Amino acid sequence: MKAIIVTDESAGIAGMKLMERPEPQPAINDVIVQVYATSMTGDELSWPSTWTDRAGHDRSFSIPGHELAGVVTALGYGTTGLSVGQRVFGLTDWHRDGTLAEYVAVEARNLAPLPADVDFTVGAALVMPGLTAWQGLFDHGHLRAGQTVLVHGAAGIVGSMATQLARAAGAYVIGTGRGDGRQAALDFGAHEYVDLENEKLQDVKEVDLVFDVFGGDIVSQSARLIRPGGMLVTIAGPTEARPANGSAIDFVVEAIPNQLSEVVQRFREGRLKTHIGNISSFDDAIAAFNSPNRVKGKKIISIRS
Ligand SMILES: NC(=O)c1ccc[n+]([C@@H]2O[C@H](COP(=O)([O-])OP(=O)(O)OC[C@H]3O[C@@H](n4cnc5c(N)ncnc54)[C@H](OP(=O)(O)O)[C@@H]3O)[C@@H](O)[C@H]2O)c1
Repeated sequence: MKAIIVTDESAGIAGMKLMERPEPQPAINDVIVQVYATSMTGDELSWPSTWTDRAGHDRSFSIPGHELAGVVTALGYGTTGLSVGQRVFGLTDWHRDGTLAEYVAVEARNLAPLPADVDFTVGAALVMPGLTAWQGLFDHGHLRAGQTVLVHGAAGIVGSMATQLARAAGAYVIGTGRGDGRQAALDFGAHEYVDLENEKLQDVKEVDLVFDVFGGDIVSQSARLIRPGGMLVTIAGPTEARPANGSAIDFVVEAIPNQLSEVVQRFREGRLKTHIGNISSFDDAIAAFNSPNRVKGKKIISIRS
């Protein structure tokens, strides 16, 4: 099969190569998915899981990408819940070969059915932001109607999803980001917007929850805005920042099928938008990832249509 591989961590995305690789074999409880559309997270090539398996063994010839929509072509020993020919979408294991390939082996429990009226490119675009925003706001942030949430990077891929989901949950949403992200964030549902390049974060009133995508100074400043009992949730890695009388958590997104089903249902009902930057063919994927032109939104790779 054709797959994009990386062999050299220091080369980053410039080291990607499109080449022939053996097709994956399904392990116990796996399915094989023929990938129709996929994507990757920008800094995935710096994650240790891209370069070593769970036992710490080298994974050179690693295939990146963990977000997919496609069709099940084979079942592993003992696999239940999905069938051959079924349309699916979901998130694959960080430590295994990924989705920038014609086929991928993935545990069935990491996938949800993709409804027939939802394009594969949309399915792929919903996976990472949908799961990350849902888990950050509700599983970890315990957001409730009537609360105020500060969503950093609200015009970005994850932030725009968090903004939409928080607004739909009845929260008051304050988005942040660069000045040119203001209109996009408001269009995604933010009530207010703070241009972090020109406005002061300290001027924001007290919030119940901070949904952070930046880390660093911004997350430290944000912790001071949280009212007693509130939460700081970050997806930017471990942080020392803590609200004075509240909790802080950093987390890595997990594949939770019923959350995928909820998100795709909201998309079908017109209650949720994707944030797709561009869609490239598999042959153009490496050029798309390496393009010097900054694209806002998810870069989707359409492998098959
Ligand atoms: N822990 C997890 O499970 C998890 C899951 C998904 C993503 N992540 C991480 O979350 C981060 C965000 O991902 P994403 O896909 O949402 O990225 P993204 O689409 O680039 O979103 C970031 C947003 O913040 C803006 N921004 C960036 N730097 C800024 C700054 N210094 N000041 C103000 N605004 C700034 C960006 O504007 P521009 O577009 O103009 O740069 C963009 O609107 C990444 O580091 C990613 O690896 C973690």
